[in-house]
Amino acid sequence: MQDSVFFKRQSKRSYLDRPVPDDVLRRLFDIIRWTPSCANKQPWRFVVVSDGPHREKLNMSLASGNEWAAKAPLMVALVARESDDYSRDDDPVKYYQFDSGMACLSLLLGAAHEGLMGHPMAGFDAHAVKEALDIPDEYHVMCLVSLGYEGTADLLDELTRAKDEAERTRKPINEIITKERFEF
Ligand SMILES: Cc1cc2nc3c(=O)[nH]c(=O)nc-3n(C[C@H](O)[C@H](O)[C@H](O)COP(=O)(O)O)c2cc1C
Repeated sequence: MQDSVFFKRQSKRSYLDRPVPDDVLRRLFDIIRWTPSCANKQPWRFVVVSDGPHREKLNMSLASGNEWAAKAPLMVALVARESDDYSRDDDPVKYYQFDSGMACLSLLLGAAHEGLMGHPMAGFDAHAVKEALDIPDEYHVMCLVSLGYEGTADLLDELTRAKDEAERTRKPINEIITKERFEF
């Protein structure tokens, strides 16, 4: 079980300077495509950016502390808009956001399945991302995901390396799951 994608997936920060082949990407896109969504609305839109002027501008949108992501061979912007939502008047849940999170996990687990590493990020200037990639106003930038083959920690600066070498932690199961009734 520990060598399944669920446990292999990690958000590290070092990438090899190695391109991702088109056939690998195509398989990954198909994994994303089969993500479930409310009423099968499939509200997610992904912009996959490699290099060139759009990527340079996108790199500039990264928040302080996320500079390492500029070296990833690919950067993915996940965007969605409310008008693509499954809406029900009595339901406050924004399913376009929920569904986008599901699609993001497909990307992350699919990446692990293909031997890649995806690292999701909320640390960016959304306005700058939209401007860099010509994203229309009505879309929200849900997250950026850096993508590529994982490198070694010695490729990182000291501060970033310390983050990567920190222990990964999780809440214990009894703090997040109960059986039969809500008991938190
Ligand atoms: C929505 C979201 C936003 C995140 N934003 C950042 C970020 O801006 N910078 C960063 O280094 N990591 C970011 N992360 C990565 C989390 O810190 C990481 O997933 C968490 O610490 C658990 O580690 P793991 O992914 O290795 O299991 C983000 C993760 C998610 C899901």
